[in-house]
Amino acid sequence: MSSVLLTGISELVTNDASLGDGSPLGVIEQAAVVVEGATVAWVGPQRQAPDADQHLDLAGRAVVPGFVDSHSHLVFAGDRSREFEARMTGTPYDGGGIATTVAATRAAPDELLLARARALQAEMRAQGTTTLEVKSGYGLTVADEARSLRIAREITDETTFLGAHVVPAGADRRAYIDLVTGPMLAACAPLARWVDVFCEPASPHAFDGDEARVVLTAGMAAGLLPRVHGNQLSAGPGVRLAVDLGAASVDHCTHLSAADVDALAGASPAPGRDGTVATLLPGVEFSTRSPYPDARALVDAGVVVALATDCNPGSCYTSSMPFVIALAVREMGLSPAEALWAATAGGALALRRPDVGHLGVGARADLAVLEAPTYRHLAYRPGVPLARALDL
Ligand code: NIG
Ligand code: FE
Repeated sequence: MSSVLLTGISELVTNDASLGDGSPLGVIEQAAVVVEGATVAWVGPQRQAPDADQHLDLAGRAVVPGFVDSHSHLVFAGDRSREFEARMTGTPYDGGGIATTVAATRAAPDELLLARARALQAEMRAQGTTTLEVKSGYGLTVADEARSLRIAREITDETTFLGAHVVPAGADRRAYIDLVTGPMLAACAPLARWVDVFCEPASPHAFDGDEARVVLTAGMAAGLLPRVHGNQLSAGPGVRLAVDLGAASVDHCTHLSAADVDALAGASPAPGRDGTVATLLPGVEFSTRSPYPDARALVDAGVVVALATDCNPGSCYTSSMPFVIALAVREMGLSPAEALWAATAGGALALRRPDVGHLGVGARADLAVLEAPTYRHLAYRPGVPLARALDL
């Protein structure tokens, strides 16, 4: 197996607290990395680096773990920029626009859906993302949900069945939930790792707590692991349901009660124990003109937080984890270090993936290189294309 020695790394973020400066980011200055095949074989100060078959000099750039974008909806067709325009002048988001994307997605050929998903994946990689999750949820028939997941599997192993995104226009709620938990689940379970539901009693289109529990329980019985869209528009039952079912993550968390924060703190993952991560999606608050959740208060309460884009044509059409990091720092009170950790190690916990989100020995060699001397520039220089995934 061929090895590569990377040198000239001004600052290496490992996310391994036993390395480097002892902080959670495990920062090593003037560092080197040896990659063997697809795995990190050695990290440390450059002056101690072993030799390797090939050398690559990064000329004073910082290196961080590739971003883990644990929440996206990349399989879709159509455009909702007019809906965005209306929101910017006061129209609230309630999920009703999802129907527009469902109609466009159903009408699109496979090749178009795959080409668009691949283009978004390339956009993400060009901005430093190396692991991504992709959901179905714009098909809402047995055939269209299964097709969406087949396309998602072309670009990632982290696929999520979201047949319970909304009740399709004109459908009976009960009958639709029977379809989702019956024939649709049977067709989709072999194509997915996760099951998700848009749990939001404040939206007439989404599902209440009881309905969401039925969907997730059925998915779990079919071998899928649960995750939840919860507490986006109101302090509804999503967080409590996610914690109760041992979901890997509850995503959005825009509106939280004190009891929700307590529940998340008690259920957060810890060394040697899986748990429920609070995944924050500040691009959604940006793009729906909504209040940002208080990430500072969550971290101070002991909640493990992840950051993700939620890239989708409705509530947030960005593919940029650096943009999300900048928002988390500027608008939600995280330090640059906490935001970077949440976008890497936090995302890995939200996907229960011990092999990514850090650069310790044995991790996947998913590196993001920054056109900057330190990770702090990710938030310090918002909107500047600093990060890229390293192709070795
Ligand atoms: O995560 N909130 C529910 N679903 C997506 C948005 C889908 C859409 O508007 O197209 C979300 O925000
Ligand atoms: Fe989403």
